[in-house]
Amino acid sequence: MKTYFLQVKEVIQETADTVTLSFWHPISEQIKYKAGQFITISIPTIDGKKVKRSYSMSSSPATDSAVAVTVKRVPNGLVSNYLNDNVHTGDFLEVIEPMGSFFFEPSENANRNIFLFGAGSGITPLISIAKTTLKTESNTKVHLLYGNRSEESIIFKKELEILESQYKERFSVHNILSQPSDTWVGAKGRINQANTTLWLKDASVDFKKDHFFMCGPEEMMDDLKKIFELYDVDKSQVHYERFNAPMQEEDTVNTDELKRQTVKVIYDGDTHDFVVEPHQTILEAALEQDIDLPYSCQAGMCTACLGKCTDGKVKMDEEEGLTEKEIAQGYILTCVSHPMSEGVVVEID
Ligand SMILES: Cc1cc2nc3c(=O)[nH]c(=O)nc-3n(C[C@H](O)[C@H](O)[C@H](O)COP(=O)(O)OP(=O)(O)OC[C@H]3O[C@@H](n4cnc5c(N)ncnc54)[C@H](O)[C@@H]3O)c2cc1C
Ligand code: FES
Repeated sequence: MKTYFLQVKEVIQETADTVTLSFWHPISEQIKYKAGQFITISIPTIDGKKVKRSYSMSSSPATDSAVAVTVKRVPNGLVSNYLNDNVHTGDFLEVIEPMGSFFFEPSENANRNIFLFGAGSGITPLISIAKTTLKTESNTKVHLLYGNRSEESIIFKKELEILESQYKERFSVHNILSQPSDTWVGAKGRINQANTTLWLKDASVDFKKDHFFMCGPEEMMDDLKKIFELYDVDKSQVHYERFNAPMQEEDTVNTDELKRQTVKVIYDGDTHDFVVEPHQTILEAALEQDIDLPYSCQAGMCTACLGKCTDGKVKMDEEEGLTEKEIAQGYILTCVSHPMSEGVVVEID
């Protein structure tokens, strides 16, 4: 994985608890990314430890000269508050290259509808996709359903209004607020199965060909999933991004089966043999022993820690981050993996 030290070009206060940080490209190259992807910011020390968190680009590769991320404070959150409070124009931040499989691939002659569903900070990859689509596909319409608590918490309110007036026939934003002021005349409540179905029908959705991108809390995503299942929408048309690990309904790994095991990890030409305790994942054990393996979200969502189990048996707490094919081929995410036998070997590219 490539790492950059990027200089902050600008810090923009979007709402009371959200900032956008834009970065200069390095002198030697332009950072390439697809709309919807994320970078990982690495902070050398917060409370005495090195921490990494992923942030989706809110900038568009098609319309914005700088790479930008937008960070909303999480109550008591380590990195989101650090980035809101401590980063200034001219500072340098360590950033791991863009990655992620939640992205929009423009197709110049396409004539389609793109539906975007977001809540709160989930708007970040969606605004990048919206700007990219509007710029690159002149026949495509983009519809955004965006949920927030109040008028003040709508991130990119002004920018979305400007885009709506710039692309009158092709871009529409439907805000929905859970705790609006008395003067709010728009929709009230949260994004759910009933109000989304109505909204989609109003926008003349075609479930056979339109594309759907969503990023928000688990309840919202679960409700939307029900719509796509009901209308038998092909999986290739539906794209999800998660900022948080989903709640496990039941543990996929029975903790009684876990034993202390020695694991071999081959990465970057080096071989590391280390012990994984029953309460640890392979990545946690490696990091505790100062073995520098790649990772980002540490929650089975971003695939930065992808490796291939070439010997022994491994079980993952959470399999959603990989396709069935990848799992069948032996790929694992070390951040959620436990060795289940002796002699586990993991190779990381
Ligand atoms: C692929 C990807 C892209 C992301 N893009 C963005 C982005 O564009 N903008 C953005 O603001 N964030 C984004 N995130 C979330 C971000 O990476 C951090 O998880 C978030 O900033 C919280 O980190 P923290 O260190 O402040 O909180 P932590 O110290 O890690 O967590 C503190 C507490 O808050 C809970 N928590 C963590 N995250 C959230 C959350 N999002 N909502 C509610 N509770 C939470 C934790 O469970 C914990 O209890 C993204 C995450 C992923 C995986
Ligand atoms: S670190 Fe993100 S999936 Fe493992």
